[in-house]
Amino acid sequence: MLPWAFRRLPGPHQEMFRYQEAVRGYLCQEINRHKLSASEAPKAFISCYLAQITKVDDPVSTFSEDNLIQVVIDLFLGGTDTTATTLRWALFYMVQHRAIQGKVQQELHTVLGTSGAVRYEDRKRLPYTRAVLHEVQRVSSVVTVGAVRQCVTSTRVQGHPVPKGTIILPNLASVLYDPECWETPQQFNPGHFLDKDGNFLVNEAFLPFSAGHRVCLGDQLARMELSLMFATLLRTFQFQLPEGSPGLRLDYVFRGTRQPQPQKICAVPRLSCPNTGPREEGL
Ligand code: HEM
Repeated sequence: MLPWAFRRLPGPHQEMFRYQEAVRGYLCQEINRHKLSASEAPKAFISCYLAQITKVDDPVSTFSEDNLIQVVIDLFLGGTDTTATTLRWALFYMVQHRAIQGKVQQELHTVLGTSGAVRYEDRKRLPYTRAVLHEVQRVSSVVTVGAVRQCVTSTRVQGHPVPKGTIILPNLASVLYDPECWETPQQFNPGHFLDKDGNFLVNEAFLPFSAGHRVCLGDQLARMELSLMFATLLRTFQFQLPEGSPGLRLDYVFRGTRQPQPQKICAVPRLSCPNTGPREEGL
């Protein structure tokens, strides 16, 4: 409520500001590095943004170095914890459901064999693996409530009036667990995304990235990262509980996103471990 006062008050929260300054310092260095290597056809996000700052001859332009720093911070905040947490859930669910882990590994082996790295296009030939990953995202519901939004104009949603200025908190978990949209909403069931012939099935209630104009900006990047990492990890390792483990806890702890409980699992290299060196054709 009073950010300027918060900054001046002593206390443990000052550590947060120190981290913030460290991140900003690092980004300033990165921006300077990109300035020095500026080219005619910039490719990296920072270079493109810098080119835009110099191009835009508009007195009210929002393109500035300060804004660039904030945008890069937003991308890191939005894109790191969400994807890493989803991947952790995926591995825990695979340990909990060994038969499903085995079926994913079998599909990866049958379709991709043992050589070469996984490519994003491969997902089309891997309906079961794709369904499992979708089910992980549905059940873990990592971003359980979307970002806070404010209604810019008066409207109606399913007949209910929503006046201009209303604060909106989209409850994404309510859709991901809606009993009218999912056969067994509370259970981990990859069948939610498969038809009777085992083909991948799109379900419109799959909204972990939210929907509409302000849908997650990293949606496609996240799907690509998750698909490549999940398939590569399962091809390479068998995930299981360590000896003597009392079992997994799949209830979540809330730390801004829904996180799994900190607990140990083992990654045992598989005998038929593929050679996952980079392929010529890249991603
Ligand atoms: C599994 C991974 C991810 C999940 C579940 C996720 C989910 C979400 C959700 C639910 C929103 C709120 C949308 C709304 O308000 O309606 C959001 C916004 C956003 N996400 Fe993601 N996200 C993920 C990965 C990423 C990645 C990889 C990036 C970028 C590198 C990213 C960047 C952003 C940004 C910048 C916004 C704000 C967009 C805006 O305000 O218009 N996210 N994300």
